[in-house]
Amino acid sequence: MDREFVFNDVTTWQGIAGRRILITGATNGIGLAAAKELSHRGAQLAIVARSRERADVAARQIGGQVDVLVADLASQASVRRLAAEALERYPRIDVLLNNAGAIYSRRQFTEDGIELTWAVNHLAPFLLTSLRRMASFFTALTSGCTIQLARPLSPVR
Ligand SMILES: NC(=O)c1ccc[n+]([C@@H]2O[C@H](COP(=O)([O-])OP(=O)(O)OC[C@H]3O[C@@H](n4cnc5c(N)ncnc54)[C@H](OP(=O)(O)O)[C@@H]3O)[C@@H](O)[C@H]2O)c1
Repeated sequence: MDREFVFNDVTTWQGIAGRRILITGATNGIGLAAAKELSHRGAQLAIVARSRERADVAARQIGGQVDVLVADLASQASVRRLAAEALERYPRIDVLLNNAGAIYSRRQFTEDGIELTWAVNHLAPFLLTSLRRMASFFTALTSGCTIQLARPLSPVR
């Protein structure tokens, strides 16, 4: 991303208050910290977690009105259900924050036969973003955005 784009983007930014943000992996680490800050700034948060219990604990820590959507990003069926549920619940999502991620040191495969780290860090965000776009979640490409955090050097499990 070049500097000029960042500068222009920041100066035209109208603030996060009232924006609908869907964030994955908000039960811990960067996602939890980001969710707390976004909630504090008035965002309408929907957090995605694979554990309802951990999500409820996180929602209490985040504070404010937080919706919880349960999905295991290692499963493509679960990601598809997540996209369908989000579509049903929200007429609009301003920001999709693809934050969840992990690196598994032991080679293992998902129910879809895909290597787990690859499935969670790369395919899940790609699928979620694609499904959301196909469903016309963005009213216009300029009014919504997707943020991608997962990378190959995610925390090792
Ligand atoms: N930490 C760094 O230095 C660093 C640097 C650059 C980029 N990043 C990226 O930033 C993101 C967050 O990193 P972090 O350090 O905050 O990680 P973290 O503390 O380990 O948190 C990872 C989050 O992802 C969730 N998650 C993992 N697998 C999942 C799955 N299959 N389905 C749904 N949720 C799942 C975890 O949920 P559970 O509570 O259920 O485990 C947790 O909420 C990662 O994508 C990482 O690659 C991190």
